[in-house]
Amino acid sequence: MRRRRNLPLCWTSTTAIPSPVSPSTPVCGRKNRGPVHLDVFADALANSRNPVCYNGDLRTVGEVRALEGRFPEVTHVMIGRGLVADPALARKLRGGKGTDREELTDFLAALYQGYTDFYQGQVPTAAQRMREVWFYLIHLFDDAEKLNKQLRRFRTPAEYERIQAEILASCPIRSDVQGDLI
Ligand SMILES: Cc1cc2nc3c(=O)[nH]c(=O)nc-3n(C[C@H](O)[C@H](O)[C@H](O)COP(=O)(O)O)c2cc1C
Repeated sequence: MRRRRNLPLCWTSTTAIPSPVSPSTPVCGRKNRGPVHLDVFADALANSRNPVCYNGDLRTVGEVRALEGRFPEVTHVMIGRGLVADPALARKLRGGKGTDREELTDFLAALYQGYTDFYQGQVPTAAQRMREVWFYLIHLFDDAEKLNKQLRRFRTPAEYERIQAEILASCPIRSDVQGDLI
């Protein structure tokens, strides 16, 4: 692979070859499938002459710290699904607090409204997008199995709104995301 000099390299967990990205490119790689190959990443890192940004399967502060500990020469990480699963993760990485019901309620309302505006008032389409957000976000909640099943099956925006309200009212928020984000 030919590399342009001085571009940071972004490693995404399921690709065998690091992808060059511009410093302003927020996301690279492809949809995550399969396990992270840290041994292959270590090899690529050892042979890189450029700054390397790691991406793949980071869900918690502990996982980011472990990666930093194992690969101190990694200069950046990108987090995809982990940030959807825990919208406060970036703040927690800077020493800030985890999220709470009030903040999540406001955040989800703003997101739902944003999707509704984006889809020019098509609320059912906005609710579908929220279902995709909940595919990851549900991992931040305890005791949510029954409501998660309902989330996967709802048909109308009103049903989605009712299920979300019930999760926010009744399911304990975990300090860390749990489970595979697949
Ligand atoms: C729902 C979803 C959509 C994605 N869409 C894109 C995309 O459009 N372009 C892209 O380069 N990567 C895409 N990815 C891959 C992510 O950028 C990232 O490499 C991958 O999710 C691994 O990082 P993560 O474990 O932090 O999520 C997508 C991943 C997911 C889960």
